[in-house]
Amino acid sequence: MSNLIALVLAAGEGKRMKSRYSKMVHKACGKPVINWVCSAVEKAGFTETIVVVGHGADQVKECLGDKYQYILQKEQLGTGHAVMQAESLLREREGLVFILYGDTPLISPGTVNGAIEYHQNSGCRATIVTAILDDPSGYGRVVRDLDGNVVKIVEHRDASPEERNINEINSGMYCFWIEDLLLALEELNNDNDQGEYYITDTIGILLKKGLKVGACEVKNPMEILGVNDRIQLYQASEVMKRRILEYHMKNGVTIIDPNSTFIDDGVKIGMDTVIYPGTIIEGSTEIGEECIIGPSSRITSTTIGDEVEIINTVIIESTIGDKTSVGPFAYIRPGNRIGRNVKVGDFVELKKSNIGDKTKIPHLSYIGDTTVGRNTNIACGVITVNYNGKEKNRTVIGDNAFVGCNVNLIAPVEVKDNSYIAAGSTITDEVPEYSLAIARERQVIKEDWVKKKNMERKEQQKEKNDKE
Ligand code: UD1
Ligand code: CA
Repeated sequence: MSNLIALVLAAGEGKRMKSRYSKMVHKACGKPVINWVCSAVEKAGFTETIVVVGHGADQVKECLGDKYQYILQKEQLGTGHAVMQAESLLREREGLVFILYGDTPLISPGTVNGAIEYHQNSGCRATIVTAILDDPSGYGRVVRDLDGNVVKIVEHRDASPEERNINEINSGMYCFWIEDLLLALEELNNDNDQGEYYITDTIGILLKKGLKVGACEVKNPMEILGVNDRIQLYQASEVMKRRILEYHMKNGVTIIDPNSTFIDDGVKIGMDTVIYPGTIIEGSTEIGEECIIGPSSRITSTTIGDEVEIINTVIIESTIGDKTSVGPFAYIRPGNRIGRNVKVGDFVELKKSNIGDKTKIPHLSYIGDTTVGRNTNIACGVITVNYNGKEKNRTVIGDNAFVGCNVNLIAPVEVKDNSYIAAGSTITDEVPEYSLAIARERQVIKEDWVKKKNMERKEQQKEKNDKE
């Protein structure tokens, strides 16, 4: 069987990003740039995918995982040099190699396959994928002769003023028959402005050998956008963002204001859910049908059922059952399991807690490291005192309980089913089933206390006046 090998170049330093991190691991819509490229490659159906890593190699490998074959380019001496690192591996193979750059996250599998098909049908020994851009600055230009045949690729910085006027650019994707690529690599030099080995020079080399080189233009020039700096990262993210939002809208999700809505790649949202402005939905979040999400909410890696309302709220790594409402202004920290038909209201903070079905925590509470049963009412201002300065302790509250306003629950402590805690109590001991717990000072009434106080004051004033 003939091979179809993808060679992804991801070793470059990416100086223009001005970053501690490899350019490849910067995220667009929640997914690293290199992962966008490799997912497109995966869908295109190669027999083998090789990633050349170098600068920030560990970061890149961590993003991609162990399903790819990696080759190390110790020193980054140019795109041609990166390909040379795969030379010995390629010598053992026959067939086609498709080279692409790890910094072009918008490429689609269709474009990759189209280029391979073109290459196979044209009889060319090498095919470059090109694009016509209104503003080609920064990209390598495709120079053609008067008959329209490709002559060479010249880098922007090495180009003459006339060459800079060319608006057909090199996308950075190439298809070669392996034997021809190996032949061209032997003659590659670094005789250019940057002193780098350019893979683009292989085109001129093959042409000089009298071999046919073709160019295949992409239908959508946006696809080849290279991410070299943060502005291009933003531009690529904008395109992806639109793709993602339109995907959800086509699936029956209403997005009131696409401009202020950000949804990561891979998020799932059910039919008839409405997303209000200012909402960010991230990570592995899954949202059910007929939910109302937002405005101004941030939901990270959370599973949400059907008919749920989330208003002005931050939720991280939690699960929320059907018909539950959260917010406005709740803060749901990681590790909560909130049941069905629950109400978590304004200024409630939850952390690592399980909240049973039909329970209500309507306002101003902190519930941490706690299990609350079903149908329990946590009134305004209830605090679980889960930290004693050294360790975190759990609170357990049963079903059908009533925890009155401003109650402190000093953990570890248990409040049993069907019990009742009077407002203002500080609970340190277990509250048994069906009992009432009151843990506060009794109220004392001092009759006419105010009148007596006023009399005293008047007398004092009189004495003072008499002395003067
Ligand atoms: C490159 C092309 C240019 C093209 C543009 C398209 C060359 C010489 N130029 O320019 O013609 O129009 O892409 O986006 O190829 N890399 C390595 N090792 C290295 C150097 C680079 O792996 O030693 C990788 C980088 O990680 C990157 C890719 O190769 O993914 C391209 O390198 P970059 O420096 O971004 O090239 P451009 O200047 O954008
Ligand atoms: Ca680039």
